[in-house]
Amino acid sequence: MSASQASASVGEVVPLPLSEPTGEERPVLIIDLGGQYSQLIARRVRECRVYSELVGHGVSAEDIRARNPLALVLSGGPASVYAEDAPRIDPRIYELGIPTLGICYGMQLMAQDLGGSVDRTGVSEFGKTDVRVHEGALFAGLPEQQTTWMSHRDSVTAPPAGARVVAGSGSTPIAAFEQTERKLYGVQFHPEVVHTPCGMEVLKNFLYSVADAPATWTAAAVIEEQVERIRAQVGSERVLCALSGGVDSAVAALLVHKAVGDQLTCVFVDHGLLRKEEAAQVVETFRGHFHVPLIHVDAEERFLARLEGVDDPEEKRTLIGEEFIRVFEGESRKLEGNPAPRAKPARPPNGVAKSTPQVKYLVQGTLYSDVIESGGTEGVAAKIKSHHNVGGLPEEMAMELVEPLRLLFKDEVRRVGEELGLPERMVWRHPFPGPGLAIRIIGEVTEERLEILREADSILLDEIRRAGLYRELWQCFAVLPAIRSVGVQGDERTYAYPIVIRAVTSEDAMTADWARLPYDLLETISSRIINEIPAVNRVALDISSKPPSTIEWE
Ligand code: XMP
Repeated sequence: MSASQASASVGEVVPLPLSEPTGEERPVLIIDLGGQYSQLIARRVRECRVYSELVGHGVSAEDIRARNPLALVLSGGPASVYAEDAPRIDPRIYELGIPTLGICYGMQLMAQDLGGSVDRTGVSEFGKTDVRVHEGALFAGLPEQQTTWMSHRDSVTAPPAGARVVAGSGSTPIAAFEQTERKLYGVQFHPEVVHTPCGMEVLKNFLYSVADAPATWTAAAVIEEQVERIRAQVGSERVLCALSGGVDSAVAALLVHKAVGDQLTCVFVDHGLLRKEEAAQVVETFRGHFHVPLIHVDAEERFLARLEGVDDPEEKRTLIGEEFIRVFEGESRKLEGNPAPRAKPARPPNGVAKSTPQVKYLVQGTLYSDVIESGGTEGVAAKIKSHHNVGGLPEEMAMELVEPLRLLFKDEVRRVGEELGLPERMVWRHPFPGPGLAIRIIGEVTEERLEILREADSILLDEIRRAGLYRELWQCFAVLPAIRSVGVQGDERTYAYPIVIRAVTSEDAMTADWARLPYDLLETISSRIINEIPAVNRVALDISSKPPSTIEWE
């Protein structure tokens, strides 16, 4: 909780979906009390190979019991437990006998609800804080002195009835407590953030020793579960998937293919705005390597014709989105007259077989973070940001969605991709916008400019990979502002394009910092781009962070 968040209204707490349809795995439920790290807690628990889900704090004890969780975690939150509209939980939840860990605000809420006390002592702790550990199951095997990350104004001044204080800091004597009989645990610090070096160990102690949770949530388990679920949903019907070249649609498609084989057809609308050699790689990987039925639509000319004379970024996005849907719909209509090899023809209720079976299902790479952001399970599909599905796939196609990544965070999608044998380059590919290079050419998109940008981008990524920096960066790409400047090469004056290098680090694209690339590397990139691409005579580096800039230039 930062100072600015402390003043945030608790009314902004977003209700979360309770019940994602899960498989066999018993979840750890993270009850979200409005903290900025709630999703991170869920991810950390999963990194311990224990399946976890976020639920809103309005969840009832009955709902919790129905999910049969292995453990509960009460997240942090921006409020003071004394604020009028502070988020609370159903107090009967404490009576369920489920091992519960309260973090920061969650710990304070537990103390207040269970006979302890919380006060504004006048001492706040923000940032790195040394904690001395006396004892306790959460700290088994850990050093007595620990650095932790704290972020609080209020403090617990008396632990819940029957609880023992097991850690304290200089200004907060009660930094952790435990009530072993009732399996209730609280920590004032944030074990989920990297600034608490022993944080993962604390979480593991809670999950493995206190809650006895088995470490079974692995990529292989996810695949097995999803394959079964897809089979149950799809039966013998046909499924369509739009491949974009990105990791989400690739992993979603491979999962569906593993589940129902050639009932799946992938449509790869190649708008000609991808990076160098990317289209060929999609075709080679899916058709060549995985033998997935793939329709590769080479639509570059159509897209370029639509983009002629357009330089407004939003107009580019809209045109590309519309054209994408048109091409995709056209392909799926063609498919309907053409039954899948293994699919039985669909029979309408009157028993008369149709000659043109409908393609009933559409694969979509919705991620768990999308589900959470949209704040509920209802209508999620319709609300997914257009960012997340190349140009916004057609709602009006009236197909049912298959969403095999719905329970996964991005890093888990990558691990599943690796397990499925997707090439490293695809699994770890940086995010790439649906409208592709069109929004990295500032000005009108032409074939010539695309060619220049593709070449520059390829040199840049080549050198970044060679320097071993690719995975450290959130995104790295070249931008072509369609202006010309003067240069001199040999004895001749040149008048050519600049290329801008954009390289950023980020956690989630909401904020980003420009990457401090080594000067020597920049020099190599610059001279290669200028020497190898005659139409470029200048290379610039974008040193703006987001905010106030954005990652993309358009
Ligand atoms: P900005 O530029 O807003 O980008 O900082 C944040 C993230 O979103 C990606 N992005 C897009 N993705 N369609 C997409 O599919 C788009 O129109 C689009 N615009 C930006 C961007 O690459 C970054 O990862």
